[in-house]
Amino acid sequence: MATIIPVASFDCVVFGATGDLTTRKLLPALYYRYKDGQIPPTSRIIGASRSEISLDAFRERARDALKRFVPGHDLSEEALTAFLDHLDYVAVDGAGEDGWEPLAAKLAERPDQVRPYYLATSPDLYGAICRNLAKHGLIGEKSRVVLEKPIGKDLKSARAINDAVGEVFPEEQIFRIDHYLGKETVQNLLALRFANTIFERLWTADVIDHVQITVGETVGVEGRAGYYDTSGALRDMVQNHILQLLCLTAMESPLNLDANSVRDEKLKVLRALKPITPADVQHVTVRGQYAAGAVEGKPVEGYLTDLGPGSQSRTETFVALKLEVQSWRWAGVPFYLRTGKRLPAKMSEIVVQFRASPFSIFPEEAFGREPNRLVIRLQPQEGMKLEVMTKDPGPGGMRLRPTNLDISFEETFKQRYPDAYERLLMDVVRGNPTLFMRRDEVEVAWAWADSLLKAWADRPEAPRPYAAGSWGPTAAIALIERDGRTWHEDLR
Ligand code: BG6
Repeated sequence: MATIIPVASFDCVVFGATGDLTTRKLLPALYYRYKDGQIPPTSRIIGASRSEISLDAFRERARDALKRFVPGHDLSEEALTAFLDHLDYVAVDGAGEDGWEPLAAKLAERPDQVRPYYLATSPDLYGAICRNLAKHGLIGEKSRVVLEKPIGKDLKSARAINDAVGEVFPEEQIFRIDHYLGKETVQNLLALRFANTIFERLWTADVIDHVQITVGETVGVEGRAGYYDTSGALRDMVQNHILQLLCLTAMESPLNLDANSVRDEKLKVLRALKPITPADVQHVTVRGQYAAGAVEGKPVEGYLTDLGPGSQSRTETFVALKLEVQSWRWAGVPFYLRTGKRLPAKMSEIVVQFRASPFSIFPEEAFGREPNRLVIRLQPQEGMKLEVMTKDPGPGGMRLRPTNLDISFEETFKQRYPDAYERLLMDVVRGNPTLFMRRDEVEVAWAWADSLLKAWADRPEAPRPYAAGSWGPTAAIALIERDGRTWHEDLR
């Protein structure tokens, strides 16, 4: 059973309170933590946005959002009404002058509360909101600021945002969210690697042939075309979520679980990533853009149609990469990464492919010679699967086949898997930044991404089209098959 340790009483101010992130993720996450008794009843969630709406109207919007995004069996009318009572609302112009006095007055009612400021707004506003918080005397020792991704769109803009926020908040009060770090299975990677002797000893180039990380999505750009078209899959998914998964897979053991120990080790992996040069770009990267097709049996339009009539764009909605981590542990072990919109399944996995046994005592015809493989499933059905060779039961001689040692976390632990934001929001209140990105991590990841973006920009060819509902352009299959390897079959 999960142990619920209540956090300190807080006033969480959510800028961007009427936006998509608040509606889909933050309010449901806070509702669950409240319902489980983790949020003390003296806490408040103060919505802040430019919309001049009443508190009742804000609560009504929140009620609708919860009904939409929380499954009915978790939504009792009683819990819902009790939760909504903790919501407050102030109309504030984050980057301007209006509304700051009323917000300050509200916060002054409870000066001892922990005060997270959640910036669920466009990153262009982060600096201005922080300056306003400082100008109105709203930053104290118990304040923290939470920054949603994207933190910039390249190294230069990320530095500008970090500088602006850093002028008013010390680094230990800045929480840069990468929600992948709050996913249970991602945290489980730390447990798998550093709480078990069997894996860590095999976690080397001598035993591991290669690693694959796939984050597939069935959705297209939905209502976010404006943002997505200036971003693309590399900025939206690889620079942050997928590199973080790679870091946790590849990093050395941290000294302990302190935020800086863990982040120091992740940073070393980012620094060890071999930059992709213009000469390599054709061999180790594939960009794709979805065309019309069918996903989960339903016909869907292509990316350009999703952008709007007559649109032209070279933005990639799919990326496949072959990366190298230049270190003793990983020398010669490629990391194949891929992610995309409008793929056949919403599925994220890390696959650690071990080397084949060096010699077989079994007759050729009996032996599939399948090397072992560890599959860490992030979603759906969080769990882990270790493929081992076993004997086929019964007579017929020694026939071997791969069998799964399969752990489904949900079935094993028989409890709901909390959304990543639940854990991360509570960590903000506790002041624990272990699962958040430090400034240097974000900037080193951008420096790596910038060199690839530049190499792509200098090339004449556009992203390769792929049919919606396929696993990306055929070149992505060739990328790995050229090396005599293949994408994990569940995902192909
Ligand atoms: C976000 C990206 O950070 O992550 C989205 O901006 C993407 O484009 C989302 O859809 C995926 O998150 P999850 O948790 O659904 O895998």
